[in-house]
This record gives sequence, C-alpha cells and structure tokens, in this order.
Amino acid sequence: MRDEHAFATRPIDEMYRWFADEAEPTSPIWGTLCRWIAETPEVCERLDTLPGRRRQPNLFLASIRYLNGPTAPGDEFIAWVGENWDAIEELILSRSTQTNEPGRCAVLAPVLASLPQPIALLEIGPSAGLGLFPDKYRYRYTGDVRQEVTPPTAQPDAPELVCEVTGRPPGDPSLLVVRARAGLDLNPLNPGDPDDVRWLRALVWPGEDARERRLVSALQLAGSNPPRLIKADVTERLHLLLALAPAGTTPVIMHSAALAYLPRAERDDVVQQIRDSGMHWLSFEGPTVVTSVREQLTDDDAWASRPNFVVALDDVPLGRAAAHGSWVSWY
Ligand SMILES: C[S@@+](CC[C@H](N)C(=O)[O-])C[C@H]1O[C@@H](n2cnc3c(N)ncnc32)[C@H](O)[C@@H]1O
Repeated sequence: MRDEHAFATRPIDEMYRWFADEAEPTSPIWGTLCRWIAETPEVCERLDTLPGRRRQPNLFLASIRYLNGPTAPGDEFIAWVGENWDAIEELILSRSTQTNEPGRCAVLAPVLASLPQPIALLEIGPSAGLGLFPDKYRYRYTGDVRQEVTPPTAQPDAPELVCEVTGRPPGDPSLLVVRARAGLDLNPLNPGDPDDVRWLRALVWPGEDARERRLVSALQLAGSNPPRLIKADVTERLHLLLALAPAGTTPVIMHSAALAYLPRAERDDVVQQIRDSGMHWLSFEGPTVVTSVREQLTDDDAWASRPNFVVALDDVPLGRAAAHGSWVSWY
C-alpha cells in the first residue's frame, strides 16, 4: 500500500521550511538549521533518498544529536553529513519518534485523581513508560490554582512538573494512588538502557534544557523500578493490556500523543475496543485525533492560534492543554 502520509510525500525543502516554523519558538537552533537545509540542495538530495515516513525531520535531527554532529549551518555541516551518512541512515531506519514527555502527567494527574482510588493505569503507546508514574512526580501549579502537590507515594525529592492552570481542575493529585501500571507499545524503550536513554535525550530539541533535565530525572525514577511494558501492536493486541488490571482497582486506559500514529480506520477501531471494555478512558491527543472528541469541540476558533492538545475522560472533553503539559485550561 502506498504511504500517503505528509512525511512520505511532501518535498523535503517544503517539509523543512514547515518544521523550521514549528521548532523556532523553543529551539532557534533547529529553526535556523532547518531553514538553511531547505535552501541547501546537497543536504535535501540526501534526505530525499530516505524511504516513506523516515523522511520526517525529527528523525534526522535526533540522529545529529545522537551522533554529536554539528548543529550550525555551513560547509562543516555538509561535510559531516557526507562522512557520517551510513551511521545517520542506520539510525533513521532503526529508530522512531518515541518522544516521551513526563510533563503531560501534570494534566493527567488531576483527572486520574477524580476517579475512585486506587487506579490501575494501562497506557497505549507509553514509549519508555514515563507517563505511567503520575503518582510519583511532584506538581507545582500556578495561575488560577496555586498549589504544590506531592501525591502520597511520591518522594520529597521526586521530579517536579510545573503547570500553569486556568479554571478548576477535576481532581486533586494529592489523593492519587496508582496500584498497578502497565503499557503496550510497538517498541517499548527501557528507561534503564543507556542507548534508549541517549535516543530519548536526542529527541529533545537543542535549547529545551529544562525539558531535557525533566526527562533525565524521570528516566532515573522509571529506571529504578521499570513498569511492565508489552511489545505489541495495539491494533491487534489491546486485550493483553486490558487483562492486567488487578481486582480492587479502577482500571483506566490512557493514551497521549499515541493514537495519532494510527491510520484513521484502525484508530477508530481501537477507540471502539476501548469503549467496549467498559473501563475508564483517558485521552490526551491533538484536537482532531479522536473523532468523537473532535465532534464535541465547539471552541476551535478560540484556540486556532495556540497549538494545543485536548484532555478527555470517557469521551468527554475536559480541557485544552500544551502538548507537553506546561499549561492547561479546564472547561
Ligand atoms: C510520541 S510517542 C508518545 C509516548 C508517550 N505516550 C508520551 O506521551 O510521552 C508515541 C508512542 O506510540 C507508540 N505506537 C505507535 N503506534 C503504535 C501501535 N500501533 N501500537 C502500539 N504502540 C504504538 C510508539 O512506538 C511510541 O512509543
């Protein structure tokens, strides 16, 4: 079947120009480099030899970081890409964009805390599983809610996640207790494996230093007590994950920045399986990803100029938030 995804079909120069705009606000280094790549045929021609979705800019850029390559435009960059192309290509073909962002827990924790405790948290597409520890991070909320929260089982020196809040959160994370946690991923990463850790760090954009520090401390936390992660395709094996909720818990199926990777028909099918399970369903994705959530959003115009994710529980949108959890606006 022909791959129609934009990463597979869009001209390289156009794609890197688009990506430059995406990266610029938080990573001017990537913004500048990507804009220059778009104007540099020597680099574009090489990138155009990559197959299908492997042409996605994030994979090439993470490979540069992983291999400690130069990040400034110019002849040195062109020469480095030429000399290291075999290693770059091998990485791009063997690795995927599995960015794992613990900051999202600042948005998810108040929703989980609104349910009967304790929780069994079952995540689709967990990457290294950093989203499976909402009860182990500390939270500092600012804005309408000024609150420093340490859930009952979090250590006093646990990684702190900061989030600016508008509106009233659905629950209080100081009540959150996660009794069981498990995930199912096409390619689970191991938070204790140095090579996986290096790749996850490489996926963070240069200049996002606070984000990288947060990632490293969350990886240490998860690496000291790794969650159970099943290697499987959710479109075929969701039932393996659903079977892992122990008696006496409230099972919650959760996914963040994961369903977007499935083609629409398979995504709708997974959503139907989640509904049929009768378990709670916590979704944190871009506004158009889950069809039924998308149809309930009546405030798109107000949010058109601010990139956002939608947090929804049991198919009901609860709020909009930054994709990495740095702010949330509850309905
Ligand atoms: C961008 S990462 C998000 C990781 C994590 N949920 C977070 O929010 O930080 C997307 C994850 O979804 C996984 N994934 C994509 N398609 C999948 C599928 N069909 N079955 C299981 N996992 C899948 C990928 O392997 C990857 O680890």
